Amino acid sequence: MRSIVLAHEVDWGAWRAAARMLTLADVAPEDVVWSVRNASDLFAEPEEEAAAPTGSFTVPRALVSLAETVIQANDPERFALLYRLIWRAHRGEKHILEMTTDPEVQRTQRLAQAVRRDTHKMRAFVRFREVVEPEGTRYVSWFEPDHYIVEANAPFFTRRFATMTWSILTPYRSAHWDGEELRFNVGASPADVPDDDRLEAYWRAYYSSIFNPARLKIGAMRAEMPQKYWRNLPEAAAIPELIRTASGRVDSMVEQPVFSSPRPARVVASTPVEGGTALQQAARDAAECRRCPLWEPATQVVFGEGPPDARIMLVGEQPGDQEDLAGRPFVGPAGQLLDRAMAEAGLDRQTVYLTNSVKHFKFVPRGKRRIHEKPGTGEINACRFWLDLERAELKPALTVMLGVTAARAVLGRAVTISRERSQPMPLPDAAGGNTTGFITVHPSYLLRLPDEEAKTREYAAFVEDLRRVVALAA
Ligand code: URA
Repeated sequence: MRSIVLAHEVDWGAWRAAARMLTLADVAPEDVVWSVRNASDLFAEPEEEAAAPTGSFTVPRALVSLAETVIQANDPERFALLYRLIWRAHRGEKHILEMTTDPEVQRTQRLAQAVRRDTHKMRAFVRFREVVEPEGTRYVSWFEPDHYIVEANAPFFTRRFATMTWSILTPYRSAHWDGEELRFNVGASPADVPDDDRLEAYWRAYYSSIFNPARLKIGAMRAEMPQKYWRNLPEAAAIPELIRTASGRVDSMVEQPVFSSPRPARVVASTPVEGGTALQQAARDAAECRRCPLWEPATQVVFGEGPPDARIMLVGEQPGDQEDLAGRPFVGPAGQLLDRAMAEAGLDRQTVYLTNSVKHFKFVPRGKRRIHEKPGTGEINACRFWLDLERAELKPALTVMLGVTAARAVLGRAVTISRERSQPMPLPDAAGGNTTGFITVHPSYLLRLPDEEAKTREYAAFVEDLRRVVALAA
């Protein structure tokens, strides 16, 4: 019997080296016992390393990458389970991951999914509190992950909050960033997070500003945010009051200039439940997309949403700051302008499918702000896979391209908007039968216009385009 003792729960380097060594030495999975050294053994003599046997070690790259995710799972059996898969792949089952009914593959995929969900929650729900220290301000957060995900996710926060000094405290591990170096040490307790909290007010105000009673699904929110996340979210405290005043808020939203019109419940969510339509499956898959580097600093993928039988698809550029946080397209200022124009044109948002050419927010951090950056051709081309898939699944009668990026993504060429806008065009690609394309401006263009006169004129032209869209799709 071989005993492999790892230094800590996510000792990927040691696990990988041991798995390789054991495979090459032909040690059967049932002859290996895996464990993690106790914290009290921290100063124990290191295990003597066995000389690595030589030989060719070939396992599919996808399996190695899956193992890197699953090693973060809070399951003591994971080291052995992963070794069994590696062992089997090495001994000839090269396509093991395609054996979707295999119980070991299924169990591994379930663990990977649980880790990914936890990762998403950490990225979405970590909230920092401001602590003034003698050396300056530190932002401290308390988070309770289900899995061992802190080490793998801390780099995301270093990119996202690069210029801040922060600590993320969790029960098993803490991560600290000083603007230059990322360090990890032992776990902490909630008491280590001070509660005099000026940022709380900020989160509450921000949440109230994006809160939409028409979309209120408290059950779903709680399912997504179990108690331990919920109680650490400052904005959660604001919810009872927001619910109490919800009907009044809906009324006032309807009465307001449509810049803040109520939104429909989404039909395709960016993190939908298991099963569902092909589009929902695509949305789940896109959450794992690594086709270009934009996934990394972004909070989450923002997939398209709308009824699966929509006749009209509106394609934008990419999610902005608010869309990135909310996980939904067109919920920020450009989305509100679009809502208003659609309402004026008689186009019901609930009946259209709204999506973007690029599904992750591209930005440059500037202080605490994230400044929008236009996606490049490489990113548009990489993300076209998802747009093509959405179009192939939805088969919209009409695809409306909002601005140059959308036109490039759909048509695969550069477009001058003023030359080609407002006229139906046959689409060259086969999205399923005869489809029509239609180019108009992007709502952000209207927001950027410097003078009121131009704004009014261009807005009216945009509404007129949307009216043509309604007529073409009729
Ligand atoms: N701009 C876009 O193109 N898409 C969004 O989802 C938001 C702003």
